[in-house]
Amino acid sequence: MKPIRKAIFPVAGLGTRFLPATKAMPKEMLTVVDRPLIQHVVDEAREAGIEHFIFVTGRNKGVIEDHFDRQFELEVTLKERNKSSDLKLLADDQPAAGSASFTRQQSPMGLGHAVWCARELVGNEPFALVLPDVLVQNKPGCLAQMIEAYNKAGDKSNIIAVEEVPMERIHQYGVVGIGKGDGKTFPITEMVEKPPREKAPSNLIITGRYILQPEIFDLLAKQTGGAGGEIQITDSMITLSKSQPFHAVKFEGKSFDCGSKVGFLAANVAYAMARPDIAPAFRDEIKRLLGN
Ligand code: UTP
Repeated sequence: MKPIRKAIFPVAGLGTRFLPATKAMPKEMLTVVDRPLIQHVVDEAREAGIEHFIFVTGRNKGVIEDHFDRQFELEVTLKERNKSSDLKLLADDQPAAGSASFTRQQSPMGLGHAVWCARELVGNEPFALVLPDVLVQNKPGCLAQMIEAYNKAGDKSNIIAVEEVPMERIHQYGVVGIGKGDGKTFPITEMVEKPPREKAPSNLIITGRYILQPEIFDLLAKQTGGAGGEIQITDSMITLSKSQPFHAVKFEGKSFDCGSKVGFLAANVAYAMARPDIAPAFRDEIKRLLGN
């Protein structure tokens, strides 16, 4: 069975819900506490054993590439000032030489198209797909939990992270129907993109983490625009599910949709509260704001 060594991070979207913040700065560089969103998800992938990080970037996204490179002038200045803990922080975050690759999606034609743009870098092996605007707060991380499920599910299986949402919001998401499972991993019996409430097979939505087989690339190549005119990954997954098994993992951990303002702000509060160096002062500040 081929291990999951590579992860795709699609970062070519326009981030319109965060304008004007995202006019000149990528959404994926917005910070949750003091780490950019993209760094949080790379950390999760690294913890799960991923060795090769593939970023699908676009225009105005060059700063993401810079973020994962060395910053020579800064390092020299920090050294001169004996800031060894800051230097260590930068060194720890640095991907190993040759382990990060960047390719471009020339126009934002949808998540499915962004994934297809990475086909040459992935090659003929299963891979993880990690959306940087979904954060999951847990140890072990969401992707590590999925890889554990993948190793049990066997060759040529595909894994999708799912979570429950209230039915009144179901029409905004990719939704799965599931069969009998072991309490955490379930066979997927049905997948549908943005169904009306009455047609949704369950209240379980696809949550920004996937393990997919490389056969998805040929299906993406043939696909034309789906919901909203964009090339959706779900449409190709539906076709792939006719020939390969798909499993849903109800992951442990709290998820934050950082593509929305409220989700992003909630993530900042939750991640700050989990930081021993910040939490006590931050809690006092929140109490003061709430007036108690
Ligand atoms: P989203 O749809 O949430 O991001 O895509 P967006 O389009 O940038 O945001 P809004 O809706 O305009 O505010 C989820 C992830 O997929 C990437 C995005 O960068 C984001 O990380 N993406 C999306 C691409 O790489 N290419 C696309 O064509 C679309």
